[in-house]
Amino acid sequence: MRRIVVTGGCGFIGSNFIRLELELDPELSIVNIDKLTYAGNLANLADLQGNARYQFARGDICDKDFVTSVLRSGDIDAVVNFAAESHVDRSILDSSPFVQTNIIGTQTLLDCCRLHKIGRYVQVSTDEVYGSLGDDGKFTEETPLAPNSPYSASKASADLLVRAYVHTFDFPAVITRCSNNYGPYQFPEKLIPLFISNALKDQSLPVYGTGLNIRDWIHVLDHCRGIDAALRRGRVGEVYNFGGNSELTNLDLTYALLDALGKPRTLIRYVADRPGHDHRYAIDATKARRELGWEPQAVFAAGLRQTIDWYLANPDWIANIKSGEYRSYYEQQYGNRLT
Ligand code: NAD
Ligand code: DAU
Repeated sequence: MRRIVVTGGCGFIGSNFIRLELELDPELSIVNIDKLTYAGNLANLADLQGNARYQFARGDICDKDFVTSVLRSGDIDAVVNFAAESHVDRSILDSSPFVQTNIIGTQTLLDCCRLHKIGRYVQVSTDEVYGSLGDDGKFTEETPLAPNSPYSASKASADLLVRAYVHTFDFPAVITRCSNNYGPYQFPEKLIPLFISNALKDQSLPVYGTGLNIRDWIHVLDHCRGIDAALRRGRVGEVYNFGGNSELTNLDLTYALLDALGKPRTLIRYVADRPGHDHRYAIDATKARRELGWEPQAVFAAGLRQTIDWYLANPDWIANIKSGEYRSYYEQQYGNRLT
């Protein structure tokens, strides 16, 4: 593989993936397609400016002419699609951009890739397409799709389109589904960076509902290594689950963050629950281990510490975002009452 297109590379996971790929494969060059929505940030890849193996193309994956122009620009061996609207809370406020980018954008990419006979396509999906678990069990690749939020419904729709293109056109795609990522460069609307950012300013941490919902946390680089394995070794038409073996209630995670930052638990503020809030996610990654030789490497406590240290060492990264248009879901819903 010599040259690939990554979409959504200015976001959290895409930027970590691009940096990792360039490190892992000295022969590889990457074109990053990104629209630079509120979540896209050129600062996430500022260190790659001037790197001859990295190219940025600003544009929308829903724009067929633009995508075509990028695919025509050189011998592209593969496309990895990270570009998406990614926040459940925002999809509750307005699902339109989710339908547009996550569904229409995926369909546009699939059509363009098919036309240009791209040899490999990876759809970066999410465990949320499986819905919610009770207190037992884990999601396997055979778990029926049962998305509960507009976000997860749009991601499941995209997965179904990918599946249909494989079936109908022998399109060479694989799908990956991962649990909650943490690590550097995550946009501060998601739980971990939002709570770090608030705690550092002695502002309250809005825990939804009881705080007893459970998420499985995986370090972003473990996810990226899994996508790399699926890109290079995944079987066409297959789905691969990735998880971190680190299930935590939101409350226990919040305690861990506050303890690590030396901040009091009195900063916790219980707020109205997220509508339709999924109770629990957990991943069975046996298939990825067996077929791709993939295992998560990070130990959660050490990974969380390293993540907190990154945010402490990069205060300008969040400060620069906050000076932009960002207002969190709960700020929009409840104004300043939380802070
Ligand atoms: P993010 O919100 O941080 O980044 C998304 C990126 O996509 C941004 O750079 C944005 O500018 C770009 N983008 C959005 N719409 C676009 C469009 N129409 N055309 C081109 N670019 C566009 O998201 P993330 O957390 O990095 O997630 C990346 C992918 O991984 C998403 O597909 C998401 O569903 C999936 N995923 C995320 C997680 C997680 O925990 N964050 C877990 C599993 C799967
Ligand atoms: O499981 C994978 C998914 O993980 C990805 O597909 C999504 O793109 C990603 O955003 C993430 O979704 P979540 O909804 O789980 O992430 P979020 O960080 O928004 O919330 C994590 C948990 O914390 C969830 O149970 C809701 C809760 N929460 C979140 C925020 C932002 C709070 O209690 N308070 C908050 O302020």
